[in-house]
Amino acid sequence: MATLKIELLGSEVLRTRAAEIEQVDDDLKRLIADMFSTMYRAEGVGLAGPQVGVSRRVIVVDVHDEEVPPFALINPRVVESSAEKEKGEEGCLSIPGLSAAVERPAHVVVEGLDAAGNPVRVEGGGLLGRCLQHEIDHLDGILFIDRVGPLKRKMLMQKWKKQQG
Ligand code: NI
Repeated sequence: MATLKIELLGSEVLRTRAAEIEQVDDDLKRLIADMFSTMYRAEGVGLAGPQVGVSRRVIVVDVHDEEVPPFALINPRVVESSAEKEKGEEGCLSIPGLSAAVERPAHVVVEGLDAAGNPVRVEGGGLLGRCLQHEIDHLDGILFIDRVGPLKRKMLMQKWKKQQG
């Protein structure tokens, strides 16, 4: 397993809609393994293909919950979202040092393929639901800073610029 370079805010691939995956092959399995090791090394709870420079629709998630073993999802899509919304603090490995409260549906149902290529359905709220939505956003070129109000976003961008020196 290799640790991959994590793309940071400003990188074009983070703003590009990732392509559907047509075939679950050894290359994809290797990518998933590398994404897990990259996520663990960076101490994240989720990682999406574009974040490691791969514009393909794959995510890995580990919310450190005994009842939810770490998993990968290929071509994930949200098929149901609760009307109820919830605010929670989010950060992103591609925007280190920044975080903000983001409002999202409290609970979602997601369908896709597992790492073996079998259809799966994952549903959850709390950190799992938030993480699923955040990672699937990455596949559409959307970042959590796009989901806060304009004033907050401006503050975040100022902090980011200062940080980047
Ligand atoms: Ni992220």
